[in-house]
Amino acid sequence: MAAFLSFENLRYEKRNQIAFITVARPKVLNALNIQTVQELGRAFQSVRDDVEVRVAVLTGDGEKAFVAGADINDFAGLSAVEAETFSQRGQALFSLIENCGKPVIAAVNGFALGGGCELALACAMRIASENAHFGQPEIKLGIIPGYGGSQRLPRLIGKGRALQILLTGDMIKADEAFRIGLVNEVVASAELLPRAEALANKIIANAPIAARCCLDAVNRGLDMTLKEGLAYEAALFGLSFSTADKEEGTRAFVEKRAPQFKGI
Ligand code: COA
Repeated sequence: MAAFLSFENLRYEKRNQIAFITVARPKVLNALNIQTVQELGRAFQSVRDDVEVRVAVLTGDGEKAFVAGADINDFAGLSAVEAETFSQRGQALFSLIENCGKPVIAAVNGFALGGGCELALACAMRIASENAHFGQPEIKLGIIPGYGGSQRLPRLIGKGRALQILLTGDMIKADEAFRIGLVNEVVASAELLPRAEALANKIIANAPIAARCCLDAVNRGLDMTLKEGLAYEAALFGLSFSTADKEEGTRAFVEKRAPQFKGI
C-alpha cells in the first residue's frame, strides 16, 4: 500500500509500521464535519486492512486543538431523524476505530471537546500534552453527546465522574484528566508525538496476533458478564497457542534472546 493516502481534511502518513493520522482543519480547531468523518472512515479502513500498519497515532493539526467537536455548522436544520442518522454515522466510525484490530493511540494536543473527546475515547489509549482540555459541552448547546460519549466515558472513568462532565459541560485540564483516568499520560507538547511513537514501537515489538487478541478481549469483554468474558479470554488464550509467534516467544525467553515475531 502507498505510504501516503490523499485526503482534503486529514494527513495520513505511514512510517515504520505506524500510521500517523492528523485531522487538519485548523481554522475551525479541527472540528469534524461530515466530509472529515467520511475521510476518517477511509483512513481507518486502511489501518484495519493494511498488513504493514501495526499501530495508528491520531492527532490534530496545530498546537491549539486535537478536535473541538463535531462541526456545529452541520447541525443547522437537521431534523430529529436526520440527527439520529448523523449520530449513527459517527458512532459507526468510532466503533471502527475501536475495533480495527490495531491499537490506536490518541495524541491529544489541545482541545478535545464534544466529538473530539469522544474520538479520543474510542482510541485504545490517550496521551495528552500539558495544554490539553477535555469536555463534553453538548449540554450547553441543548443536546447530548452523539458519538458515544454517554457510553464510553462512564465505562472509562465511572458513572459519577462521567455525569459531572456531561451535566456541567465544564472542561477539565490535562492534569485532572490524568487524575481521573481519562488519559494515560501527560507530557510536554514537544514530547507528545515522540512519546506516542515510542509507545507504538513498544507495542510493535510484541506479537501482532497477541496484540489483536488483547484488544478484542478487552473491547468485547467490557460488553459481557465476567463469566462470559472469562470464557472468551480462555478461547483467545487457546488461539494464541496455535501461533508460530507463541513458539518463538517462549523459545526466545529460554534462549535468553529478543524474540523475532512474524505475526503468524
Ligand atoms: N464547530 C465549528 N466551528 C468551530 C468549532 C466547532 N465545534 N469549534 C471551534 N470552531 C471555530 C470557531 O467558530 C472559530 O471560527 P471563526 O474564527 O470563523 O470565528 C474558530 O473555530 C476558532 O474558535 P474560537 O472559538 O474563536 O477559539 P477560542 O480559543 O476562543 O475558543 C473553544 C476555543 C474550543 C473553547 C471554542 O471554539 C468552543 O467552545 N468551541 C465549540 C466546542 C463545542 O461545543 N464542541 C462540541 C460540539 S457538539
